[in-house]
Amino acid sequence: MGMAKQRVILVTGGGGFIGRWVVRRLLAEERKVVVVDNFSNASPSNLAGFEGDENLLAIHREDIRWREFMTALFDEYRFSLCIHLAASISVQDSIDHPLSTFDNDTVATLHLLELCRQHETPFVFTSTCLVYDTFDGTDAISEEHPVKPHSPYSASKLSAEALALSYHQTYDLPVTVLRPFNTYGPFQRSTGEGGVVATFLHRALAGESLLVYGDGEQSRDLLYVEDCADFIVSSAFQERAVGRIINAASGRETKINELAEMIAEGKVAIEHVPHIHPRSEVGRLKGSYVLAEELLGWKPVVDLEEGIARTRDYIAGELEG
Ligand SMILES: NC(=O)c1ccc[n+]([C@@H]2O[C@H](COP(=O)([O-])OP(=O)(O)OC[C@H]3O[C@@H](n4cnc5c(N)ncnc54)[C@H](O)[C@@H]3O)[C@@H](O)[C@H]2O)c1
Repeated sequence: MGMAKQRVILVTGGGGFIGRWVVRRLLAEERKVVVVDNFSNASPSNLAGFEGDENLLAIHREDIRWREFMTALFDEYRFSLCIHLAASISVQDSIDHPLSTFDNDTVATLHLLELCRQHETPFVFTSTCLVYDTFDGTDAISEEHPVKPHSPYSASKLSAEALALSYHQTYDLPVTVLRPFNTYGPFQRSTGEGGVVATFLHRALAGESLLVYGDGEQSRDLLYVEDCADFIVSSAFQERAVGRIINAASGRETKINELAEMIAEGKVAIEHVPHIHPRSEVGRLKGSYVLAEELLGWKPVVDLEEGIARTRDYIAGELEG
């Protein structure tokens, strides 16, 4: 019997940081999963723990922009759901190479939407909190907050959101748009353009000082990755999420100075340095997850202290291993 009769979920970018946690959660629910990831920003070892799982039907090391391949893949599996995470995620890269970010985050998303329309495959699009306009610190950022394309990355995600929602309006394709805030945790890259939590922990564990860009008064809403993956998976199976834009956040605003102190624990120095990419800096962020709670019954469960501890253990293991 072919795969046509099974319910199979496509996870693009499933080898990435958030993707591997989404795959883990889906496999824990005994759902059948196919991953497409070109591993341009991730290591195949992220999925090493799941290799023996018979519900992980395939890991295709391919580029989602390869149209013939994607068309054949949709013909082969008739996916019951597409969770789209593959993207160029660096704001600075998008400033340096706007065309390649647009190609990957917008054009490729449109082609994927088209395949989903042809196969009536519900589509979950992972956008980002970076689509929002500047936040002045009064109310948390809800989905009603104005949007503003501060970078080509943000513009590419906003464009893809609009296309995805247009497929819902025009073709009745079930589409959900998700806007997670700054996600951190094990498996995030801790070197180069990694997340701030991973980068600080890596440096602290190596005995190096933490480098805070600018005055450190900029803030982030830090969401633990397993909470983020739970959010993505619960939205994917919830009828009420269809046609909606939904935030996931911790609801807590953490200044980079505070984060540096939590991670340095007085053992390594904290230095303030000029921003190496001032144009890619984001001011303040604090998200509201009221809508996610209402529609999905979702709320974050891992607080920052616990999330940092888990991430520290993971990075310490990596440094030893
Ligand atoms: N990390 C965050 O804080 C955060 C916050 C909000 C939204 N997001 C979104 O969540 C998604 C996942 O982000 P992440 O942090 O896990 O980043 P990531 O870079 O670890 O994951 C993206 C994955 O997509 C793959 N990929 C990129 N282009 C591809 C292509 N053309 N074909 C096939 N695979 C490709 C990469 O190799 C990587 O494994 C992205 O869409 C990102 O915009 C991330």
